[in-house]
Amino acid sequence: MRETPLRPDIWGMEQEKSALAAALGLQCDWGADEALMESPADRLALREAAARAPEAARPAPEPAPRPARAAPVALAPTLPANTRAEALAAAAPDLAALKAAIAAFDASPLKEIATNLVFGEGITDAGLMLIGEAPGADEDRAGRPFVGASGQLLDRMFASVGLSRESNFYITNILPWRPPGNRTPTDAEVALFLPFLRRQVALIRPKRLVLVGGVAAKGLIGGKEGITRLRGRWHEVEIAGLGRIPALPTLHPAYLLRSPASKRDAWADLLLLRRTLHQASA
Ligand code: URA
Repeated sequence: MRETPLRPDIWGMEQEKSALAAALGLQCDWGADEALMESPADRLALREAAARAPEAARPAPEPAPRPARAAPVALAPTLPANTRAEALAAAAPDLAALKAAIAAFDASPLKEIATNLVFGEGITDAGLMLIGEAPGADEDRAGRPFVGASGQLLDRMFASVGLSRESNFYITNILPWRPPGNRTPTDAEVALFLPFLRRQVALIRPKRLVLVGGVAAKGLIGGKEGITRLRGRWHEVEIAGLGRIPALPTLHPAYLLRSPASKRDAWADLLLLRRTLHQASA
């Protein structure tokens, strides 16, 4: 069966130009001093492919999530927290209801310590969804994902391949609340909030996921492999109601800020993402 392509308009001429400028800026910041790649890029062919992408090839917009409001779900407080999370998430008919369900879910002390819920933002029907780890101090203050230093790096990295949260993807985190002191989320915290995240994915219906960092990759792919072994290739994540969604794990920008030598790998992941999106829209 032919796969519905992602929005081909992301590869229009103007986007291609600004992506090239962003990529050049990023490479200079990252210390590139020679214009060499692993293999030559045929920019002309990319432009021609973008120009050929027929208007009619654009996917029909996904049906909007049902606007019906679910009656508030009454659950016995004696039920295990994970069971309550599963039931509340499954009962949310749309993103607004899901956000309200997470805000009301009081089984985690993270909620008591955090300032704001960080639910997610971006384009819900773009076909691409990024999932990070957890809000930091800046995100907690703003109630928005990836707005601090690592978020700004993430935005620049994705801009370098022509993608932004304003036009091309939706972005959220495995955890909706900030862990105190920005510590790594525990496995139990990830497991507790996973039903909400999985429901968020099911409601957004992305064609592809990017798992930003080891916590998101392990949370959704499972297994014992770390991010350095998982990154660089597509995996699949099973989502109830959607089936198996291709998912690309990549290095977290906070890690890249600490380990500049790994930027080469992150760049390879971005190129793989870009190539895959091109192929899907050709
Ligand atoms: N790191 C994340 O994983 N998510 C954010 O929202 C911010 C920093």
